Amino acid sequence: MSRNYSIFIVLWILVQLLVKVDCQTETFIPIQRILHTATFIDKLYILGGYNVTQSDDGGEIIGKQFFVNDTSVTFEFPQWKDLTNINIIPAHAGAASVKGVDNKTLILYGGRTFEKNENMNSVYMFDTLNNTWSTYEETYPHKRSLSALIDSNGKMYLFGGRENNGEIVNKMLILDTVNLSWSEGSSLNAPCARINYGAIILPNQ
Ligand SMILES: *[C@@H]1O[C@H](CO)[C@@H](O)[C@H](O)[C@H]1NC(C)=O
Ligand SMILES: *[C@@H]1O[C@H](CO)[C@@H](O)[C@H](O)[C@H]1NC(C)=O
Ligand SMILES: *[C@@H]1O[C@H](CO)[C@@H](O)[C@H](O)[C@H]1NC(C)=O
Ligand SMILES: *[C@@H]1O[C@H](CO)[C@@H](O)[C@H](O)[C@H]1NC(C)=O
Ligand SMILES: *[C@@H]1O[C@H](CO)[C@@H](O)[C@H](O)[C@H]1NC(C)=O
Repeated sequence: MSRNYSIFIVLWILVQLLVKVDCQTETFIPIQRILHTATFIDKLYILGGYNVTQSDDGGEIIGKQFFVNDTSVTFEFPQWKDLTNINIIPAHAGAASVKGVDNKTLILYGGRTFEKNENMNSVYMFDTLNNTWSTYEETYPHKRSLSALIDSNGKMYLFGGRENNGEIVNKMLILDTVNLSWSEGSSLNAPCARINYGAIILPNQ
């Protein structure tokens, strides 16, 4: 009887272990989205966007899902690693992001929050080496639904987008990501106002 009881206990422990192992290897499946940011810094970091499964035009902003394609994992493709629990950015869509000139920092500006339904007023930086966020409050007109690129001196160029009042603009904001100062580009001969996506390149870079 007591031997049976011991076997039962051992089996029970084994079952608990199996359940634990099973939970740990559970695959993270991201929600399909549009107007998110995708930033490649050795790995592919995805933040924000609209939930496309809700309606044809995008529906609601996705929650705080933040995940990375962890290329150090060699299981079957794609191996998404969930970083949502360390995400400090409010649920948002339509932000713009770049890789910093230090080759390790994700820099994110703009976008619209779900809770307040207004454009975000901070620049967020994510250090991909130690997975920590920092925030920089800024004062420039807040924009959303725009594209960005960064030059080799760390200047982030943000063209077009939508301002808080809904107006679509052809203004160029420039954020110096090294000393965090803002300036505005010339609007002489600027392309017409636009939102959402743009294909942009810099010469010789
Ligand atoms: C996305 O939309 C689907 C369909 O309506 C819904 O089931 C799901 O909960 C939504 N996800 C989020 C994070 O809003
Ligand atoms: C995503 O991760 C897989 C597995 O490590 C890798 O084969 C693939 O190249 C990665 N893709 C990107 C875009 O990083
Ligand atoms: C970042 O990467 C570029 C391209 O590989 C390289 O030229 C540059 O020196 C790197 N910068 C730093 C700070 O590591
Ligand atoms: C992460 O690294 C940056 C510098 O690279 C440093 O300023 C910051 O304090 C570090 N954060 C933590 C939690 O280690
Ligand atoms: C930031 O650096 C740029 C040069 O890249 C300089 O023109 C600008 O005055 C600096 N701004 C501040 C506030 O230090």
